[in-house]
Amino acid sequence: MPLRVFVTGATGVVGRMLLPQLRGRGHHVTALVRRARDADRLGDVDGVAVADVMDLRTLRRVLIGASPDVVVHQVTGFRSTDCASGMQRTAHLRTAGTENLISAAVSAGAHRVVAQSAASAYFPHGHEVLDEEAPLWTDAPGRWGAAVRAVEAQEEALLTCPDIEGVALRYGALYGPDTSFAPAGRIHRMIRGSAVPLVEDGGGITSFTHVEDAAGAVLEVLADGESGAYNVVDNEPAQSSEWLPAYAHMIGGPAPVSLTREQAREQLHWLTVHQLTEQRGATNFRLREAVGWRPVWPSWREGFADLFGLWPG
Ligand SMILES: NC(=O)c1ccc[n+]([C@@H]2O[C@H](COP(=O)([O-])OP(=O)(O)OC[C@H]3O[C@@H](n4cnc5c(N)ncnc54)[C@H](OP(=O)(O)O)[C@@H]3O)[C@@H](O)[C@H]2O)c1
Repeated sequence: MPLRVFVTGATGVVGRMLLPQLRGRGHHVTALVRRARDADRLGDVDGVAVADVMDLRTLRRVLIGASPDVVVHQVTGFRSTDCASGMQRTAHLRTAGTENLISAAVSAGAHRVVAQSAASAYFPHGHEVLDEEAPLWTDAPGRWGAAVRAVEAQEEALLTCPDIEGVALRYGALYGPDTSFAPAGRIHRMIRGSAVPLVEDGGGITSFTHVEDAAGAVLEVLADGESGAYNVVDNEPAQSSEWLPAYAHMIGGPAPVSLTREQAREQLHWLTVHQLTEQRGATNFRLREAVGWRPVWPSWREGFADLFGLWPG
C-alpha cells in the first residue's frame, strides 16, 4: 500500500539512495533539507520541506504540513569534519534530534519512525558475531562510550514512545558511493597511505552494509515488522586480517603493515586498535525473519569489487 513518507537526511549517502527506491514502490515522498537550495540535489520527490532537526518549532510545522504515515530519520553528522567532532555531532543528533523528530512526528499524526542506528555499539564479549540481544557497550572509554550511550538513548526514545512504532536500523560499516570507503573517502585515503595496519592477528570483526542495502531495509520496515532494533548488515562478518588486505589489493594500494598491539597503541587511537583487534560482528537473522529482508550485496567482497569497477555483475 502506498504510504506518505517523510525522509530526513535526504541529501546524505543513504537518503539519496532511498528517495528513488521509495518512489519506485509508489510511495508519496517528502524530503527534508536544511537549505531550500539543496532541493535541486534531490531528484524527483513529491514535496520538499526545509528545517533543521534541532529547530523543533519549524520541524513540527513542516511535518504537520507533510502529514506523513512514516518518518525516516537518516540524519548524522560525520560530513566535512574529523572523526571526533563527527561522533560528537552525531551523538547530539541521535539524542536531541531524535527527540525533536519523535515529538514532531506525533504532532503530525505519523504512526511509525524508522531511524538509523549502529551495529558497532555492542560490548565486545562472548561470541564473535552478535545479535540484537547482546548488550551495548555503554561504559566504553571516552568518546566511544558517549557515542554508544547516544545510540542507547535514541533507541530508548524510539522504542518507548507510546504513540509511535519505533524501528531502529543498526547499520554496519557503511560503504558504497560517496562513503569513506569510496575513492577520495577518508578510509580509502588512509589505506592507500598505509595508515591502517594489521594489528596482532587482525581478529577484530567488521560487519559491512552497502548503502543500497541500508536504504533497501527501510523499504521493508515501512509497514511491516514489530517495533524494535534490527541489525542491517551483510552475510559475511570479516576479520580485519581478511577485509583489510583484500580492500588494499582492490584499490591498488600497498599491503597493510603489521604491528604488535603495543606498537599500535603508541601510533593509533585506542578505538582504531579496538576495531582492528576486538570488535565483534553482527548477524542479520532478526531482520530476515521479521520482514524477509535480504541484502542485495550479501558480501563486502562483491560490494567493494563493484564499487571499484572490478565486479563483472
Ligand atoms: N552514518 C554513520 O554511522 C557513519 C559512521 C562513520 C563514518 N561515516 C561516513 O561519513 C560519511 C558521511 O556521513 P554523514 O554523517 O555526513 O552522512 P551523510 O551521508 O552526509 O548524511 C547526513 C545527512 O544528515 C543531514 N543533517 C545533518 N545535520 C542535520 C540537521 N541538524 N538537521 C537536518 N539534517 C541534518 C545532512 O544534511 P546536509 O546536506 O544539510 O548536511 C545529510 O542529509 C560517509 O562517508 C560515511 O561512510 C558514517
